[in-house]
Amino acid sequence: MKEQLQQLQQEALEKIAQASDLKTLNDVRVAYLGKKGPITEVLRGMGKLSPEERPMIGALANEVREAIQSALEEKQAKLEQEEIEKKLASEAIDVTLPGRPVRLGNHHPLTRVIEEIEDLFIGMGYTIAEGPEVEKDYYNFEALNLPKGHPARDMQDSFYITEEILLRTHTSPVQARTMEKHKGRGPVKIICPGKVYRRDNDDATHSHQFTQIEGLVVDENIRMSDLKGTLQAFAKKIFGEDREIRFRPSFFPFTEPSVEVDVSCFNCGGHGCNVCKGTGWIEILGAGMVHPNVLEMAGFDSKKYTGFAFGMGPERIAMLKYGIDDIRHFYQNDLRFLQQFNRA
Ligand code: DAH
Repeated sequence: MKEQLQQLQQEALEKIAQASDLKTLNDVRVAYLGKKGPITEVLRGMGKLSPEERPMIGALANEVREAIQSALEEKQAKLEQEEIEKKLASEAIDVTLPGRPVRLGNHHPLTRVIEEIEDLFIGMGYTIAEGPEVEKDYYNFEALNLPKGHPARDMQDSFYITEEILLRTHTSPVQARTMEKHKGRGPVKIICPGKVYRRDNDDATHSHQFTQIEGLVVDENIRMSDLKGTLQAFAKKIFGEDREIRFRPSFFPFTEPSVEVDVSCFNCGGHGCNVCKGTGWIEILGAGMVHPNVLEMAGFDSKKYTGFAFGMGPERIAMLKYGIDDIRHFYQNDLRFLQQFNRA
């Protein structure tokens, strides 16, 4: 019986040494120390032993059980530790690995030009006003001194939605809306950037949708010289310190007198080149003194108040500034085009 026990111990210790995972180890535990295991079996047979042998075998059986027990515990601790290390290794994060590159976009050239112009005018005390792109005929035309049937409506081919509602053809309706909100009290000093729509066939210089920036100042004693000084500051900021401007007489129904504004050519300094088509001047915007009818319709007393207004096209300004030859580039989202305008 003694040999039997010693053999059991040896067998069990070998199996424990071989067990390479916790499940196998547990099987070994059940096989050797479980209720139906061989050691229990040996102990059950003790009754048949002589009284001298009994304590000796009993003690040996306990020793064997303890040896197996402690070998099991030791192995279990080792396997658990290994398992933790394996898990840690598989979940390891290498903080020294370089990050995945994030693709950065950049400002659209039109956004750049619009923001530059906004910054300039905000610096001169203007606020930014906005209005709806789906506009009433009243604000788009009538309140700007363009009654129904007025021939100048044909200057701006419109997308009508109903007889009274259209996609705004210019940002000038924001003038009328803003003045109305002021309820006849000045000063009003705003610029209005935004999208406008015209029923044009798209080509290198026309687009059915483009942007405009409107400017409006209404107060007592506003004069044409104020308009000229303001636009002079604008031309210098956008096209360079040496720029000059000139006014040419023109016609807009909402201003009287009306002017078209030219800036001296930034490319040749006014001597004549292909950018200014040999004239030394480049047309950049329309402007004028707010027509008394427009002031009155918006509730302003035109004897007390005067004002100036201007309207410009950021596409045209960006095309001149960056030498862009086709307005369609702004809307085609070709990355090769857009990536040239990195703000870096
Ligand atoms: N609304 C005009 C257009 O789209 C531009 C314009 C001209 C606006 C003169 C003005 C202005 O405020 O005074 O053609």
